Amino acid sequence: MVHDINGYVTDTPYLRDFKPMLAPAWLDYVALVAGVEPPARQDGFAWCDLGCGQGVTAAVLAATHPAGIFHGIDAMGTHISHARRLAAEAAVSNVRFHATDFAAALELDLPRFDYIVAHGVYTWIDRDSQHALGRFIERRLKPGGLAYLGYNAMPGWARDLPFQRMLRELGRSIPGEIAVRVTAAAELIRSLAEAGVPSLANSFIRRELTERPADYPPAYLVHEFLPAAWQPLYVTEVRAAMAANGLLPVGSATLNENFDWMVLSEEAQRLLAAVREPDVRELARDFFLDQRFRCDVFARCGAALDAGERADRLVSGAFALGRPVPAIRYSMATPSGPLVYDNPTSRAIVAGLADGPRSLIGLAKPVSQSDVRTILTLCAAGDVMPVEPGQAAVRELNRALLRRCGGPEEIRWIALPCGTALELDRDLIRLLRDGEEIDECRFPGWRDFIAAHGVSGQ
Ligand SMILES: C[S@@+](CC[C@H](N)C(=O)[O-])C[C@H]1O[C@@H](n2cnc3c(N)ncnc32)[C@H](O)[C@@H]1O
Repeated sequence: MVHDINGYVTDTPYLRDFKPMLAPAWLDYVALVAGVEPPARQDGFAWCDLGCGQGVTAAVLAATHPAGIFHGIDAMGTHISHARRLAAEAAVSNVRFHATDFAAALELDLPRFDYIVAHGVYTWIDRDSQHALGRFIERRLKPGGLAYLGYNAMPGWARDLPFQRMLRELGRSIPGEIAVRVTAAAELIRSLAEAGVPSLANSFIRRELTERPADYPPAYLVHEFLPAAWQPLYVTEVRAAMAANGLLPVGSATLNENFDWMVLSEEAQRLLAAVREPDVRELARDFFLDQRFRCDVFARCGAALDAGERADRLVSGAFALGRPVPAIRYSMATPSGPLVYDNPTSRAIVAGLADGPRSLIGLAKPVSQSDVRTILTLCAAGDVMPVEPGQAAVRELNRALLRRCGGPEEIRWIALPCGTALELDRDLIRLLRDGEEIDECRFPGWRDFIAAHGVSGQ
């Protein structure tokens, strides 16, 4: 038998992962890129994760944002127990976890939020739960607040619909424990595909399972594919539902997707110019992108910024390097060929951030349109990321994270004082845990990168 809450499978816990795009600074940056005023945070703020899973993102963000109050809501008791345990291990006091479903969460005694996020939830739950999630945002998001939905999108999932249905039905019919069933079901599907069944020939996931099996552990397969209500949605459907809750689309937390010139060919841009209605244009754009996963940011009554204000606010925000200097290529692939941004401004920004996070005032001056474009490009490429201007204490949290290294509840992230976390290679995290020197040949640039972020081992 498979156990569920409104069709959501609860037999096995999900992965323990951090999602950088749920950080307040990242969401603020998406708003700024779109010319929308981010939430005012000078008197503190409140943030809520709907379907927070194991609570890693909420706990890390709480520890790295002492001025905020953080809440995580999830219907799975095992997830919430883990989340509370992690917060206790790391002595994080500004986070609360609630073991409840979205319908019951409507009645909880909670503050109004500046940020409400839901990653990997909306297209896995049934209509009633989606409705409750929407009502929660409608009731609890402050005017000027930002909401984030990360969800499986159409049309990119179209060629994997048969894969999901087959995995779910096989997973239900095979006897045994859930991880064993889903693994056996995936194996059977592989055999079907090898036998040449046409409906699996173009499955992206089936290819992924063969090429990168380590990225798809049983816990992932169970939560991704077994929920009865699993259904990827078109952007127009999600936008219509959010509009009914008083929310307007702002942009994407997948940063390069905010710019046509980064993700569309010139021909695609020309064809899309003929589609006038913005939501329908976005839908048509998803056809060009073959969109599989959207990271949508919405605002309630977000105030517009003029172009000058937008540029000033973008440059004066704090930024950090997203990867070690030797890994920065100053070039990224686009449908129109490589986009090269190897220019003096890019180099100056990277050199300035190599010593640690800071605002870009003074690094790109005077601020021209092309400087702003360079900053946007560096962020979209993942070389640079928007972060907090202050430095939070992360020692306790990182000790707790490093103590788990190699154990059954390993979390392969370390918290950064600038309000986010870095995913680390397993061997690198071991070196940090053991307080050992990071070998420059094996991990080029990582020693300086981690040191510049003010992080050390045990
Ligand atoms: C795929 S997981 C994503 C977890 C987390 N957001 C992440 O990205 O790591 C979906 C989560 O939604 C929770 N969930 C599903 N239905 C729910 C409901 N009706 N109310 C509250 N939580 C729910 C599940 O327990 C699960 O933890």
